[in-house]
Amino acid sequence: MKDWGPGIVRPWKADPEPVDLSLDADAILDHILDPDRRGSLHPFYHRLRALAPCHPSRSPRLPRGCHVLTSYRHVDRVARSASAVNDPDTARVFDHDGQQGAFYQLMRHAMLFLEKADHDRVRRLVYKAFTPRAIAPLRALTEQTANALLDAVASAGRMDFVRDFAYPLPIRVIGRLLGLPDEAQARVEEWAWDFARAGDPMTADAETIRRGNLAAEGFYGFFESLLDERRRHPQADLMTTLVQAEEDGRGLGREEAIATCVLLLQAGHETTADLLGNAIVNLFAHPHELARLREQRELMPMAVEELLRFEPPVQLSMRLAREPIALEGGSILPKGSLVALVYGAANRDPEIYDEPDVLRLERGAQHLAFSAGAYYCIGNALARSEIQTALRVLLDRIPTIRPEGDSFVQRRTVRMRGPQQLPVAWDLPQS
Ligand code: HEM
Repeated sequence: MKDWGPGIVRPWKADPEPVDLSLDADAILDHILDPDRRGSLHPFYHRLRALAPCHPSRSPRLPRGCHVLTSYRHVDRVARSASAVNDPDTARVFDHDGQQGAFYQLMRHAMLFLEKADHDRVRRLVYKAFTPRAIAPLRALTEQTANALLDAVASAGRMDFVRDFAYPLPIRVIGRLLGLPDEAQARVEEWAWDFARAGDPMTADAETIRRGNLAAEGFYGFFESLLDERRRHPQADLMTTLVQAEEDGRGLGREEAIATCVLLLQAGHETTADLLGNAIVNLFAHPHELARLREQRELMPMAVEELLRFEPPVQLSMRLAREPIALEGGSILPKGSLVALVYGAANRDPEIYDEPDVLRLERGAQHLAFSAGAYYCIGNALARSEIQTALRVLLDRIPTIRPEGDSFVQRRTVRMRGPQQLPVAWDLPQS
């Protein structure tokens, strides 16, 4: 893992309550979208939802006229609406200065940014590739990788939870599932890092973009030859099932297959790493719940759902309204308008959740951490299984895990939310 660059220092205990929250929805939104103010977000979400749950933004940080949705019902309605699509033009935010660089060329073939009909076709094919055989090794791979990572730090009695566990775990697991050769893993991790940094247009600078383009070129050649190789010599891995998946005699195109491998790798690692990091932060902030999870492992599947609700790694996504969309309460999203779905705010909507800011492992409630509808996270089952297994191994191996020092460091990102540095410690056995 490379250096994340500057982040935002936050206290382990609780963020200070913001004083004097503005009554101006745009001022609140500006705070929410500012990468340098990544501390306490939820009071701002609550205020924006109360002032204007469907807010036509005037913030320069969003495209003009973009509507920002913060209530559960609105976000859920639009996510499930057939009239709300991921605009292929959205990929243009990655076309820096109209250069049509390698990063943009790869992204525009990723399923998330395809025209609706192509998106639905590619999505069905990728589902087909997630065969039981291709994903069967997931649990054992997660256990093995988690144990190996903990072996490396166990005797130290301390680690950086992100650097030593949460970040390396998912990228190794998804790399193995795809079928990457062991000797390529380090190179792939370098590209994945640079690619992800270039993927946040709100924070990427010229150097980040240059490195993102180099990573995209590297990925392209690498997956092109590996996929060719799998066509000739099938293996028991996800790359093989991707090149074999067909519908009506038609499979993924070459560009689509390469972009899918990159998308699975990218969508499948930082999200999961952020969730593991957020989980630790929020369990430490709710010690009673952490103690229950330690003692009652059968709570794990429900606990993971509540942790996803409480602080989802993907805080917001954009959609384009192809037709006018009517919302409960009378608002109408005009045809052609962009819409920001704020999952992080929807998941704490007091109209849906009793005491939304309290983490209750047995809440058993629905949430929008994986979105809903046509773009519902295709990797949700993988992510759920991986997170449950990783937390189980962690609590088995180091039950006395606790925060070290007074603070941790939050990533300076807007669309995503997670920590970049989490110092933790534990008791060593008496010798
Ligand atoms: C905690 C972990 C994860 C979270 C919170 C998460 C969240 C999401 C969300 C919110 C979306 C919808 C994006 C949108 O609204 O535009 C999405 C889509 C997607 N996710 Fe995940 N994800 C996670 C893990 C994974 C994993 C492990 C994989 C694959 C191995 C994956 C693959 C994808 C793909 C391919 C899409 C695009 C789906 C489409 O375009 O139809 N995700 N994810």
